[in-house]
Amino acid sequence: MGNNASSEIVRIESLTEDRIEEVRELERSCGLRSFDASWYESELRRESSVFIIAIELGDESGGEPVVGAITGWVVAGDWEVDNLAVSKAHRRKGIGLALMKAAAGRAALLGVQRAVLEVRYGNVAAQTLYHRLGFREAGRRRNYYSDPVEDALLLMCEGEEWGRLLAGLGD
Ligand SMILES: CC(C)(COP(=O)(O)OP(=O)(O)OC[C@H]1O[C@@H](n2cnc3c(N)ncnc32)[C@H](O)[C@@H]1OP(=O)(O)O)[C@@H](O)C(=O)NCCC(=O)NCCS
Repeated sequence: MGNNASSEIVRIESLTEDRIEEVRELERSCGLRSFDASWYESELRRESSVFIIAIELGDESGGEPVVGAITGWVVAGDWEVDNLAVSKAHRRKGIGLALMKAAAGRAALLGVQRAVLEVRYGNVAAQTLYHRLGFREAGRRRNYYSDPVEDALLLMCEGEEWGRLLAGLGD
């Protein structure tokens, strides 16, 4: 992980089976779709999965909860980002960026040259974060989401932008 503010409050590591329940809870609390535990267990066994978590560094009580998570896969040379979640109490501390960078680094090791994702049309917070990393709009999918129904923006990071993202992983 890079030398940024979030490195003082979290450590970034791969998701392990013992943390699956925490990730499911976090995703639900962030209003994101989640799957049952067995789905995560089988995904973790696939080499193409990029599942990474942010764990809050222990305080005096010794607790080290999961406060951020990113899931996604490498499919046919693309890194498809699925969910990105940071607990409400820990937002705007650079954890979302740190998770994206760690996952991008992992995806690059798997030979990926392009990152793709969908984001709710009205999700300004996430879109701002992705734009900062070099993602650009590549399309719009009508009524892609339910609960509530909303369009998705398709964002991609490729070419020079992808190179810049990888070059900046240590920042
Ligand atoms: C989107 C989300 C993951 C961002 O996590 P985070 O840890 O707060 O993000 P960071 O602190 O790394 O933010 C990095 C930059 O993104 C942008 N950003 C993040 N949240 C923002 C907000 N609410 N409004 C505007 N810009 C925002 C800013 O540029 C921010 O940098 P700054 O704080 O120096 O201004 C978090 O808000 C979240 O979990 N939301 C609910 C779930 C969700 O929408 N996930 C994305 C699904 S595609």
